[in-house]
Amino acid sequence: MKKLNFYVMADNHYFSKKLWVEGNAIECRSHTDQVILKEAPEINEAFFKVIENDSDADTVVLIGDLINVGEKICHDEFTERLRKLQKNGKRVFVLTATHDYNGCGEDENTFVAVGYAEDSTYKVPCTRRAELDEIYRPFGRDKADSEYNMSYSVNVNGYRFILLNDDGNGHTDCGLDDEGNKWLENELIKAKKNNEPVLLFAHHPVITPYPLYEAAAPTEMYGRHHILKEMLLKYGVRVVFTGHVHTHAIRKISDEKNDLYDIGTSSVVSPMGKIRRITLENGFADIKTVDLPEKIDGIPGGSKQVAESCFGGYYRRLIDTAVRDYDEFVKLGCGLIPADKAKKYRFIIKPAIKALSSINMSFAGRLGKKYSGLKSSECKLHKEEKLIDVLFVILDHFFPGDAPYTPDTYEYKVIRGALLRGDRIMKLFRIRLSKYFNGIDSLWTLAEPLVHNTRTGCDREIKIKLIDEVTYEKD
Ligand SMILES: [Fe+2]
Ligand SMILES: [Fe+2]
Repeated sequence: MKKLNFYVMADNHYFSKKLWVEGNAIECRSHTDQVILKEAPEINEAFFKVIENDSDADTVVLIGDLINVGEKICHDEFTERLRKLQKNGKRVFVLTATHDYNGCGEDENTFVAVGYAEDSTYKVPCTRRAELDEIYRPFGRDKADSEYNMSYSVNVNGYRFILLNDDGNGHTDCGLDDEGNKWLENELIKAKKNNEPVLLFAHHPVITPYPLYEAAAPTEMYGRHHILKEMLLKYGVRVVFTGHVHTHAIRKISDEKNDLYDIGTSSVVSPMGKIRRITLENGFADIKTVDLPEKIDGIPGGSKQVAESCFGGYYRRLIDTAVRDYDEFVKLGCGLIPADKAKKYRFIIKPAIKALSSINMSFAGRLGKKYSGLKSSECKLHKEEKLIDVLFVILDHFFPGDAPYTPDTYEYKVIRGALLRGDRIMKLFRIRLSKYFNGIDSLWTLAEPLVHNTRTGCDREIKIKLIDEVTYEKD
């Protein structure tokens, strides 16, 4: 097997500049999104340039949600850019996913392709699922050795890349059906015979990034992932690359013989978007993270401006203005809180946010002292630290991964103590969380992976042994 360097990009969510003008409509839409819409072309371009400038890597795999929601013009512009990548010597392998098509108002997929005028939206030409095969066939599927329903299998420098299409409609299970699983099993058997290490790619997570995700949104997982996991462990497949969650997270499951890793990659257009660079060599996959470059053409404040423009940065501004400048809060909250409701409930919202903002970590520590084992003297030292700031630090790590507080930190102990106390109160009042969260009855069990990395300990990088026996071949 030859050495191979390649990139994985997830959830590019490209959105054409031709589909919006500055105004209330695009602002309100942006506030409800966890990804960056307006600057999506510049951010995508910055990453494409990183890949083009890397002369040691000639391959890139894009694992779905390529564009915003099925807008035809977005596919036109995005495929134009992929063609340029190919011209510049890169092999491109693409999966499409749920955001890449819409039913044009006629089927189950609820996405509607729209443009944004100053104060309103208007319908624009959209893309049906059946059109995607033709649009994206030149980006990978045309080189496939074998295909099943837009899933495909391809030999890349002696490695077997298998890309599973799981573009469900968002309401029901997605992924391979029974016939598809037979096709996959056959591909795995062939790969084993031919001594090809297998790398799998899908859009939806195969292993949940944290228990809360699967418990709250089972149809947002790869459909029937239990069957897939069993098959991958059986045939010794060690790695599957996934996206969709927009979080950077590496997780692992094992049986008696094998380990399987799900390498979740952040959305390209997350507030702190990232891609992965992988080196396959000597039977190992060395998986690293590439961050959004600091300087980005067309965005004066670069990656810092991107990080502050949505999600955590936006919520920080929202909380701050609720206390300081309520009229600004009403404006800034558009898309999230209707202006008339924000004005009507000012007498509740403003004092509630003010009270929440003033809670310090000393007070929060005393709440769960009985369960955290913290001493009063230790709690007293944290009067200056605000609970809201700690919550924002946790939120800031939600998409980039590596939750911030290890078990030895004061913040971890405080949150653990308070949530264990919450568990106790729920038990007293016979409140069953498991009714809503698929068998999980503890607030702390749900929250811990967001506070501390309980997965593999590092979401940025990992080196994984792909096969036990290595056959070397000269370049
Ligand atoms: Fe996505
Ligand atoms: Fe998705």
